[in-house]
Amino acid sequence: MMDAVQKFKKEFGYTPVGQVIAPGRLELLGNHTDYNQGLVMALAVDRVLQIAFAPRQDGRIELVSTGYPGKEIFSRSRIKKNPECEWANYLKGVLIQLQDRGVYFGGFNAAVHGTIPAGAGLSSSAALEMATALAIRRMYPFVLTDSGSMRLNEASHPPDFKERILLAKLCRDAENQFVGVQCGLLDPLSSIFGRANQAICIDCLHETVEHFPFIGEVAVIICNSGVTHHLNDGSYNQLRDYCRNAAKKLQVTSLRKMDLSTLKKRKGNLFHREYDCALHVVSEIQRVIFGEKALEEGNLEQFGQYMLQSHESSRDLFRNSCRELDTLVALARNKNGCYGARLTGGGFGGATINLVERKHLGDFMDGMAQDYQHAVGFDPDPQIIQIVEGAGDIDRMPRILTRQSGIVTKPSDQRWVLDEL
Ligand code: GLA
Repeated sequence: MMDAVQKFKKEFGYTPVGQVIAPGRLELLGNHTDYNQGLVMALAVDRVLQIAFAPRQDGRIELVSTGYPGKEIFSRSRIKKNPECEWANYLKGVLIQLQDRGVYFGGFNAAVHGTIPAGAGLSSSAALEMATALAIRRMYPFVLTDSGSMRLNEASHPPDFKERILLAKLCRDAENQFVGVQCGLLDPLSSIFGRANQAICIDCLHETVEHFPFIGEVAVIICNSGVTHHLNDGSYNQLRDYCRNAAKKLQVTSLRKMDLSTLKKRKGNLFHREYDCALHVVSEIQRVIFGEKALEEGNLEQFGQYMLQSHESSRDLFRNSCRELDTLVALARNKNGCYGARLTGGGFGGATINLVERKHLGDFMDGMAQDYQHAVGFDPDPQIIQIVEGAGDIDRMPRILTRQSGIVTKPSDQRWVLDEL
């Protein structure tokens, strides 16, 4: 398959001036805690979104993608949804947010290429949004500030900590307001704050991000349930409403401000679903705190227990799992060398994340493929995930990906750097 540069050349007939890359993410621990101002741990992964671009003088914007046919053409002064071209909504939402913050940009041509499977819970949408914001920042340099933005006359430096938070909020707002999914900050923050071989720990109340080494005798494997779920069908927003209503009835600004014993005492104030969702969120935030401690101590067995508990809580209380995800987790936890397994991301389908001792990798992957095929009739295609740097210019990526493994990477290939067995 073509990459973004090849697609650009094919469609527009010349070489793009630049290229940005933004990774997808895996949620390690902390399910649906982000929009409750909670804590969450994530990994930026080597399934990525690339945009190759070049500015144009006439204010027109032309978008193409290796994943979808056709060309989406519009003017920067008339950015509207096109039901025939849903993938472009993620870019358009970001363009509108940039305009709302006073960012000037002219027209441009762009080609998009992604290796993040859509609907697998790896957040292809946030990666596309983040890549869009960074591509515009490269073509029409600006700096985001608390009150809006400042235009620059020279090429912008990579965004600092503060601006990365502002970029993540801009992407979240694009998704909330244009796409219509009321998601939190987890996905765009993970995409921009990723670090090779480190886990990202996000505090969504204080808006801080920390990194923890996440490398050693353990590998991260994803297994695909085969159930594709799109968060814009309303189910995600409904869960968010339960949490919001629970917080309101409990008279706290967010569920982060609630502790378990008070929640249990006030159970009578809540509807059944509101209580279960609140119980999930409050205990999940605790699990992230304990999980960080386990990681600091290098206690992967304990960390894996929290992952398993997290899945059970998503399944029984939050109810955003499904039979297929439960089957994957049940199969994984009984395999040699598996520390923990759980659903990752919004839920209702997509992939599971599994922590597996490296010496058992081959057996684990073969066993999962066979057993799930037998149980569900679908190949879960277990894949090893590498933990990579966050979004930025593409020339950074090969260096990053070869730093640890010494493996030569090919970003256009779905299975790049996977073959470590
Ligand atoms: C989706 C959303 C995130 C987060 C996760 C669940 O990925 O986009 O903001 O809420 O679900 O933790």
